[in-house]
Amino acid sequence: MVCFMVSASEFIGRDVISVKDFTREEVDYLLRIASEMEPLAESGSDILRGKIMATLFFEPSTRTKLSFEAAMYKLGGLVIGFSEPEASSMKKGENLADTVRVVEKYADIIVLRHPAEGAARFAAEYARIPVINAGSGAEEHPTQAFLDLYTIMKEKGRIDGLKVALMGDLRYGRTVHSLAYALSLYKIKLFLISPELLRMRREVLEDVNARIDVSEYLGIEEVLPEIDVLYVTRIQKERFPDLAEYTKVRGSYSIDLNVLRRARSDLIILHPLPRVDEIASEVDSTPFARYFQQVRNGLVVRMALLALILGAVKE
Ligand code: NCD
Repeated sequence: MVCFMVSASEFIGRDVISVKDFTREEVDYLLRIASEMEPLAESGSDILRGKIMATLFFEPSTRTKLSFEAAMYKLGGLVIGFSEPEASSMKKGENLADTVRVVEKYADIIVLRHPAEGAARFAAEYARIPVINAGSGAEEHPTQAFLDLYTIMKEKGRIDGLKVALMGDLRYGRTVHSLAYALSLYKIKLFLISPELLRMRREVLEDVNARIDVSEYLGIEEVLPEIDVLYVTRIQKERFPDLAEYTKVRGSYSIDLNVLRRARSDLIILHPLPRVDEIASEVDSTPFARYFQQVRNGLVVRMALLALILGAVKE
């Protein structure tokens, strides 16, 4: 008999603000529940019937918003919300604290994306219902990290023992901050590849470096032959305080078939998407490319989170 130290009840009513709020055992448990959601993603279910999820999106989104909505519908729940704050009462000057205190009267859970770092934590302090951080400025994007881990686990059969490279905008990219925290719960070797200007945020680097072996590189050449997972990210143009800085790094790295000649044959390439020019489209049809499977995995991971937090997973 398999014993799990973590139980479903620990997730009930819980906020998801930072990956740092979760232990390895909890993340492993979440990944297991996500795999149990796979058949429900096909058949649909009504375990969240009568529950309402509110999506409050103050920044653009395609995958995160649609996959949370699809996850809720697949489990029989309902969705309300906005993705154009210009059309909400925020336009009239209503603040975030009041907004969540209103929304909690209609919904059972809030999914929030906001340009300000700390916004999700702030909202969670005011809301009496759980808040899921769907992206807080350049800070974190925890549910993306969970689906990234799920993808690695599914594609590689394990996370421990792997060599993982995060490449691109490690400074302003929130997905890589959450993913670095998440990977540091496992026994992996982490390679960080970025232009000097876009090096990993110091606070993340120091935190992660205390647990796992991390090394930084300016280019991919040296590390490519040894890595198992390459996680590529977009340069976050919209987060640069000075566009002149952006023009210095624009187009500074790109993965194409020529670069990949030196990769292990079983390398997998992930990307949170959207992609701009950092992975050539010729890579899409190779066995390296797993970024579209990664999108699908976002659905089951978000189904698992919603079901757990809303108390629909039986022990
Ligand atoms: C990312 C984000 O919003 O941080 N997108 C996503 O949620 N998959 C990545 C990005 O915008 O580059």
